[in-house]
Amino acid sequence: DAAKESLKDRVKRLLAEQEAVLVAHYYVDGDLQALAEETGGLVADSLEMARFGAKSDAKTLVVCGVRFMGETAKILNPEKRVLMPTLAATCSLDEGCPAEAFSAFCDAHPDHTVVVYANTSAEVKARSDWVVTSSIALPIVQHLHARGEKILWAPDKHLGRYVQRMTGAEMRLWDSACVVHEEFKGFALERVRRLHPDAAVLVHPESPTEVIDQADVVGSTTQLIKAVHDLPNRAFIVATDEGIFWKMHQLAPDKQLIAAPTAGEGATCESCAHCPWMAMNALQNLAAVLERGDQDQDQEIRIEESIRQRAVQPIQRMLDFAR
Ligand code: 13P
Ligand code: SF4
Repeated sequence: DAAKESLKDRVKRLLAEQEAVLVAHYYVDGDLQALAEETGGLVADSLEMARFGAKSDAKTLVVCGVRFMGETAKILNPEKRVLMPTLAATCSLDEGCPAEAFSAFCDAHPDHTVVVYANTSAEVKARSDWVVTSSIALPIVQHLHARGEKILWAPDKHLGRYVQRMTGAEMRLWDSACVVHEEFKGFALERVRRLHPDAAVLVHPESPTEVIDQADVVGSTTQLIKAVHDLPNRAFIVATDEGIFWKMHQLAPDKQLIAAPTAGEGATCESCAHCPWMAMNALQNLAAVLERGDQDQDQEIRIEESIRQRAVQPIQRMLDFAR
């Protein structure tokens, strides 16, 4: 409608004026993903989002996603201004892994290599040896296991268990989960699979083991989107945040996309899983943060330099490995 279009125009003008670029995750509102694409920004998974900042010559990165994504952008690009529509957009994994308790966990296992998921605070990353995202966790742990290293893993226990089973690595797992993906239930998925026997099952590895076990493809958001495009199936059952359907539909408009069921939902659940923190990103607060520009401190990521210098090393290690 007209109000939305005028908000979009305002955002476009402000981005240009401030030499700013949008970096959006696949789980945010489709309007924001579209705007990022239209304005020369990026829509991506968390590994690609991390890579993008260094390649861009924009002065300001506006990260539409959750806080750890903004922090990673700032850690890698300290000279750039990194803004977010709201810094209140956290993540249950980040919340479930406080730096002090995590540090004690590391102290208790000094002979382990510390591998943390990107969905963590800058402080937790600063205490780690490696940062991984869902798209690169398997090869990195495989590599460490081949070198005979024992691994301390945090925070997602489901992803950790999946990596452990696939690689055979010796891993000690922190006990935390994504509140969105944890809602997918194995028994309900079995029912939906019976209704759609030809559909391929796509699962994000933050899901519980009994859901992962039914997958045709397990992968990061980018990897799942690629599967919808590449596989010959006409239908897909998708176990991840519903925000991903915007891009899947754009790339494969003639394919049927079925949301995997969550607890308490019937077999035909259509939009079950949506991250409440990703949902905090909207056109309104995006326009507002750009409007307030340099005056604003509330929505600008700031990271203490001593923490940044330690956190950048394990992130850079991941990016070098991924190259
Ligand atoms: P991806 O790295 O697969 O984009 O996942 C990020 C995330 O937060 C999934 O819940
Ligand atoms: Fe965190 Fe889960 Fe939201 Fe991803 S979907 S940002 S892991 S709470």
